[in-house]
Amino acid sequence: MPVLLHRCVELLTPALTRHHADGSGAVLLDATLGAGGHAERFLTDLPGLRLIGLDRDPSALDIARARLAPFADRVTLVHTRYDGLAAALTESGYGTAESVDGMLFDLGVSSMQLDRAERGFAYAQDAPLDMRMDPRSPLTAADIVNTYDEAALADILHRYGEERFARRIAAQIVRRRARTPFTSTAELVALLYQAIPAPARRTGGHPAKRTFQALRIAVNDELDSLRSAIPAGLEALRVGGRMVVLAYQSLEDRIVKRLFADAVASRTPVDLPVELPGHEPRFRSLTHGAERADADEVERNPRSAAVRLRAVERVQQATGKGHA
Ligand SMILES: C[S@@+](CC[C@H](N)C(=O)[O-])C[C@H]1O[C@@H](n2cnc3c(N)ncnc32)[C@H](O)[C@@H]1O
Repeated sequence: MPVLLHRCVELLTPALTRHHADGSGAVLLDATLGAGGHAERFLTDLPGLRLIGLDRDPSALDIARARLAPFADRVTLVHTRYDGLAAALTESGYGTAESVDGMLFDLGVSSMQLDRAERGFAYAQDAPLDMRMDPRSPLTAADIVNTYDEAALADILHRYGEERFARRIAAQIVRRRARTPFTSTAELVALLYQAIPAPARRTGGHPAKRTFQALRIAVNDELDSLRSAIPAGLEALRVGGRMVVLAYQSLEDRIVKRLFADAVASRTPVDLPVELPGHEPRFRSLTHGAERADADEVERNPRSAAVRLRAVERVQQATGKGHA
């Protein structure tokens, strides 16, 4: 079940029906197509809508392609990281500036990726220590765990996992791998049970949760990818176009929050009493802070428990385009 589906529809539909009620002439870019759940809903509701769907995981694209087959003449799928969205737009025959009416980012791993034990995302199941969203990319979690030096490992666990015991875990990883390199998720989970002190284990959630998140972010370069994708996405929105982002962990949400705050800020120097022409904000916020899923949805769909939704709209500048 797609997360916050109703809210995504409510936020994006006005941008997709500005020209025609059936979405004709409108383009929706789904930057994280996954199984195509959100996309299917928009294509069903709006029979004139065109959809560009991106995913870095080829198996997600295969599943989405089958699911979206009834709409094939209106759908373009591109295998890319979302920071390649400008290139994907060009490749699909659209401009990289003001060419898209709606954009959706539903970040992170899909339930389908978590369910496929062999991908190594889930600490609850033993699997190769992999965690690549795109199996063709070169770096695996095992490469990081077995080859990065102790300081680099501690830094990854601290920054991307906000793990209190990062240094201790890194030290134990380095000691253990000198005897036998890690190959499986279970070996790492066993080490984490030992490395994290018992009292912290009782209060801090599953001992592997933060380390697995950190490795996944590092393997997939998730934060840098997001940092460059959002500005490129905002650039591609037409006036009146809207972007919705669903983030599931605080590091990603903080990046979105900061980039949206910049986008909705005036560029007139703060000490000037009036707005300088051409310096008005180019975006307005559609959400107050981050929106969460309600208790009903969390019960039906546990994945939605962590979600934070933020949305912005591109606005017309009073002086029009072209003013510096
Ligand atoms: C939460 S799922 C999306 C689910 C989708 N909204 C649905 O309704 O089925 C996130 C998807 O984004 C993809 N993904 C994550 N990071 C990506 C990135 N940097 N570039 C492109 N796709 C990415 C993952 O492979 C995954 O399939």
